[in-house]
Amino acid sequence: MDKFIIEGGARLSGSLKISGAKNGSLALMPATLLAPGNYNLYNTPNLSDVRTMSRLLGSMGVNCELTGSELTIDSTQVTSYEAPYEHVKKMRASFYVLGPLVARYGTAKVSLPGGCAWGPRPVDLHLKGIEKLGAKITLESGYVLAECERLHGAKFHFDISSVGATGNVLMAATLAKGASLLTNAAIEPEITALAVMLQKMGAKISGIGTSVLEIEGVDELHPADETTIPDRIEAATFLIAAAITKGEIELTGVIPEHLAAVITKLEDSGCIIESGVGGQGSGDWGLGSGVWGLGSWDRSLESGENDVIPVPRPPFPDLRPPFPDPRSPTPDPRSPTPDPRPPSSNENRIKLRMDSEPKPIDITTGIYPGFPTDVQAQWSAYMLAANGSTRITDTIYHDRFKHVPELARLGAEIEVIDNSSIVHGGKQISGAIVMSSDLRASAGLIIAALIAKGETEVLRVYHIDRGYEEVEVKLQSLGANIKRVKTELI
Ligand code: UD1
Repeated sequence: MDKFIIEGGARLSGSLKISGAKNGSLALMPATLLAPGNYNLYNTPNLSDVRTMSRLLGSMGVNCELTGSELTIDSTQVTSYEAPYEHVKKMRASFYVLGPLVARYGTAKVSLPGGCAWGPRPVDLHLKGIEKLGAKITLESGYVLAECERLHGAKFHFDISSVGATGNVLMAATLAKGASLLTNAAIEPEITALAVMLQKMGAKISGIGTSVLEIEGVDELHPADETTIPDRIEAATFLIAAAITKGEIELTGVIPEHLAAVITKLEDSGCIIESGVGGQGSGDWGLGSGVWGLGSWDRSLESGENDVIPVPRPPFPDLRPPFPDPRSPTPDPRSPTPDPRPPSSNENRIKLRMDSEPKPIDITTGIYPGFPTDVQAQWSAYMLAANGSTRITDTIYHDRFKHVPELARLGAEIEVIDNSSIVHGGKQISGAIVMSSDLRASAGLIIAALIAKGETEVLRVYHIDRGYEEVEVKLQSLGANIKRVKTELI
């Protein structure tokens, strides 16, 4: 089991290419169960969670091979419809196979995921939605059994906006007989990207990028290639890491629009941020003058520090696919459909420079485009450098504060009250041995270690390997003093 040793005090500077999104890949990969054949998924990150999903699909007869960042998947022969506990317990996203399996094969047996490090993580909405589409759901010995002749279209409202449940029910609805209407669907970029891939596979979906998805079920889908969107959480983590060290960083291969909430809060804390596409917006350091119009949001909509950030108003492209012209010839099913997302080329970039200690800036996590819960622990670490107190409220996962006692080992003063933590920053923290409890908590510990006096050892870094590709190599390239050390089981 590996650990990181980090010597605090280095200023991060340089340029970094952001990897494909973990949560993006984990949604695209199970979609290949919907249609037999060969797929190329480009910009796939080499992460342990991606390997876990590959092994799970492999146990069903689906061959996955990652070469560089190109994942080839052959789903021609699906030989099992079961997701065993050994895979699902490692990674909750394994539950994504439920919808595709029952939709295509009429049967699925998927282990219930159980809780996670920061509390219960229910799957009731996944089950209710798939049941609404006509599957008979039973629970037996820790497994969900789903069966049907063929799913049928239905209306389903998600009580809570859920990324996983939206992905699962959406995938299932693509092969149902008739039309489905999903309301209060998640609009996280990874779900939009999944819907785009499904469309390329021949699914009829409208409302992509909005919380109302209309799906006209089809009899069959076909394989399609797709490029995974950049990892907005990895990008946010590196921006915060640079900011806490008063550094200067340029991220490439990002979609700035996906990071709007984080960029706003970083600017509020004193960072100078510029973002844009290609050469545009890459000149002088300016305030949010990029092509995505980050400087042009109506900030007057923000009514207070603790409020969920309102929907930003960048010039979003119309995400709905155009209505087909009835006179045009029937399209070749393999010909690419127009991609409604903004371009995700490597030319998309964000520059950040920080010259001072951050101001204390409260955050409240929210569904997209609000501040991501997956960046909450990193923000807590960042606010240790702020001179004052900051309230950090998580409205998505009320108990997601496992990083707090570990940050306290570095000398941090943080209180947890209900679903908020109050970070009392401005005090020099010092190195210690700390333990990773989960993926994003580990990222928070690394960020704190960057400004701790002396050496910090971060144990159990397998958590961070789930979601960050070669994090220590990337940090080293920016000047951080971090090394990976192999250790005995701790
Ligand atoms: C996904 C992300 C995870 C991120 C989270 C919230 C992946 C693989 N993981 O997780 O990194 O932290 O979104 O942005 O994409 N809920 C229910 N019933 C359900 C499902 C969810 O009550 O059936 C609740 C959850 O407890 C939570 C909220 O809905 O409070 C949002 O969770 P959800 O969006 O489903 O998270 P995941 O898809 O598991």
